[in-house]
Amino acid sequence: MTQDEMKRKVAEAALKYVKQGTIVGVGTGSTANMFIDALASMKDDIIGAVASSEATAVRLAGHGITVLDLNKALTKVDSLSVYIDGADEFDAGKNLTKGGGGALTREKIVAAASDAFICIVDESKQVEHLGAFPLPIEVIPMARELVAGIVVGLGGTPKVREGYTTDNGNIIIDVHGLKITDARELEDELNSIPGVVTNGIFSHQGADVVLMGTADGVKTIR
Ligand code: 5RP
Repeated sequence: MTQDEMKRKVAEAALKYVKQGTIVGVGTGSTANMFIDALASMKDDIIGAVASSEATAVRLAGHGITVLDLNKALTKVDSLSVYIDGADEFDAGKNLTKGGGGALTREKIVAAASDAFICIVDESKQVEHLGAFPLPIEVIPMARELVAGIVVGLGGTPKVREGYTTDNGNIIIDVHGLKITDARELEDELNSIPGVVTNGIFSHQGADVVLMGTADGVKTIR
């Protein structure tokens, strides 16, 4: 089975976590896109979806799925029923790194507003230790050199993502070579640097369930 076929299978498997009459949080990336395509078959069963990026909003709307602003959604319901998104890496504790597509901040916000986070990945995303995938940090532009310098002090090699601006008007610094031994501690430490909007470690907002596509089918990791 190809990687794309595995992604398609987990995207379809995630539909069973979508409850009728609710608002669904939807992530960003190639796996999330496949989920959006699958969600189209349920568009009349849900109130609508909250998107974690402009690209996701466009794809949802293209399928005729109602796209709701998060603030509006939270005036209708206490929380979104579920957040469904991919990841760049996940470990045994269901901690994630995300943000390969640059949407980490809105992804973290929508995940935090949801009752459960269902993470949809192919088996290549499973790791023993997070950090082999360069860790994205969304940074307010004037803090670029400050944040980069502090990251070097933490043992990482920062690289500004060239020609990229986030949906929030900020830059992304991808940090190579970080050894992430305590995901939660590093998530907090990076987020405490002035100018950091958020970083791509999802430990506080880790997955509740990981659906992993393998050559033998979809595995559910609780
Ligand atoms: C985007 C993300 C994505 O979930 C992550 O990059 C995985 O993407 P894909 O499903 O294309 O492998 O965090 O910001």
